[in-house]
Amino acid sequence: METSVKAEKLQKRFDKFTAVDSISFEVEKGEIYGFLGANGAGKTTTIRMLCGLLEPTSGDAIVAGYSIKKQPEEVKKRLGYMSQKFSLYPILTVEENISFYGGIYGLTDEEIKKRLPEVCEAVGLNGLEKRLAGDMPGGLKQRIALACAIAHGPEIVFLDEPTAGVDPLLRRRFWEIIDSLAFSGVTVFVTTHYMDEVENCHRIAIMHSGRIISEGTIPELKKAAFVNHLLEVETDSPVRAFELLSEAKDSIGETSVHGAMLHVVPKDPATAAAVDRMLSAAGIAHTRPEQVEPTMEDVFVRLVKREEGKI
Ligand SMILES: Nc1ncnc2c1ncn2[C@@H]1O[C@H](COP(=O)(O)OP(=O)(O)OP(=O)(O)O)[C@@H](O)[C@H]1O
Ligand SMILES: [Mg+2]
Repeated sequence: METSVKAEKLQKRFDKFTAVDSISFEVEKGEIYGFLGANGAGKTTTIRMLCGLLEPTSGDAIVAGYSIKKQPEEVKKRLGYMSQKFSLYPILTVEENISFYGGIYGLTDEEIKKRLPEVCEAVGLNGLEKRLAGDMPGGLKQRIALACAIAHGPEIVFLDEPTAGVDPLLRRRFWEIIDSLAFSGVTVFVTTHYMDEVENCHRIAIMHSGRIISEGTIPELKKAAFVNHLLEVETDSPVRAFELLSEAKDSIGETSVHGAMLHVVPKDPATAAAVDRMLSAAGIAHTRPEQVEPTMEDVFVRLVKREEGKI
């Protein structure tokens, strides 16, 4: 497999504060690689270093075959970047925005003319080329920004929270576009803090306080977080049930609340029966505890707690 991005001990300090703490990882060509992390985890700082826009304090990364430290200009030519707070020109049309950004990335007028229909087709904007960008709904603005980032045919695209604030249907459509982009051989590096969204990534790095605390496919991450299945119980008094089960943490294991559902990380095979007994004894109506697969939210919370030494 061909490597698109190889980061080695990449670090960024702002004065005494370490925003990105010696992270190493590799992304293969055509892969959708996700960075999942809470606010301030260091996702944007990492992306800006990989794009050659921010110099690392130490460490290096090879992006599209070039060192971000020694050849940032070569790197920039080969990638597309959709920033977290991307800006389009509202008084320009869709195709004028794409042409403008294509020009910044070095395309000639001739090349832009040739690329425009392909790019609009790729992101599902055909028929909307003459519309003003400012008049487009949020989800479509996202697609225009993506079109601007891929107009010059980059080998790698860096998308920093591309679907923030977009409704679920348009988010789904956006991921279909990302999928076909990756299928055509473009490497996609994407950040998000939507837990469900990482299901669209081939591999994921979970970032916390500047460090990668776990990395792998979804099944690999689930395995890293949980040895056993989780137990799920539904109740109409989730808060009372949570308090009760939390008090028995040492004998049954950790409990968390998800709406009307409780998830218990079982201590042993007897936990299901113990949970059932405790809730019944307290007169709390509930379903039978069932084994379920952990969600990505369960995985994220558990890995972060483990990192912080809370479990
Ligand atoms: N130029 C800067 N000077 C000082 N501190 C900075 C600078 N840029 C980022 N930071 C700090 O570095 C940390 C990581 O920021 P970063 O923007 O990379 O996080 P993020 O994971 O992208 O968060 P979000 O999900 O909110 O976008 C934060 O604590 C932030 O305040
Ligand atoms: Mg960010």
